[in-house]
Amino acid sequence: MSIRISVAICALLLGLPCAPALADDAALRTALEAARRDFEARGPAGLDRLDLDAVQTVCNRWANNPPSELQSLLQAEQLAAVKYPEGGNYLGDWKKGEALAQSGRGLTWSDGAKVATGGNCYNCHELASTELAYGTLGPSLARYGQRRGRSPDLLRYTWAKIYNAKASSLCSNMPRFGHSGALGEAQIRHIMAYLFDPQSPVNR
Ligand code: HEC
Repeated sequence: MSIRISVAICALLLGLPCAPALADDAALRTALEAARRDFEARGPAGLDRLDLDAVQTVCNRWANNPPSELQSLLQAEQLAAVKYPEGGNYLGDWKKGEALAQSGRGLTWSDGAKVATGGNCYNCHELASTELAYGTLGPSLARYGQRRGRSPDLLRYTWAKIYNAKASSLCSNMPRFGHSGALGEAQIRHIMAYLFDPQSPVNR
């Protein structure tokens, strides 16, 4: 956590009169203690997953609605760390992207180190009209490219959203795929093509 952010968090913890409601500290502590007590490291799932960074600490502390100054500061820090693709080459192969978006495998305790990591997008988003089932925690991405176009700004926005959703929506439920290292640049390019390619089932 940078010094600037730590100072801002401390200042806000000491109490702005108009700060939004805080989560119940004792309940938060009990939940974290229970998680530390009950989880055990297995396979690729290590106990470091229980370590909270500044974003998670702040979102927990303010029940996903932190003071706007802190939200802007942390979002700017997350956005500054987004790595955009080499040569502005945003789009890969939509077929590989489809396989990644529709796979929830990888990085769980029962996956060996060799199991390829998917994006798990279907678990929260509607994507292609051919899908039998999908989650609705996130907004529908059906016909994403067709509806939203392919402007340089939109490609950049979508890349940053997949790389680190918390760079534009601090307490988003969407995982930080690039930021956490779960997906690499080539994989994000394939998923981008799945969202934007006119031939992709997302846009047909
Ligand atoms: C655990 C649920 C979850 C998963 C998994 C997930 N998302 Fe999301 N996504 C969300 C939520 C919630 C939002 C809305 C809040 C936000 O913008 O961060 C969102 C927003 C988005 C947006 C912005 C939509 C818009 O209209 O601006 C895009 C694009 C997106 N997700 C793409 C993806 C892709 C691609 C994947 C897979 C690599 C993925 N998401 C995986 C929950 C998820």
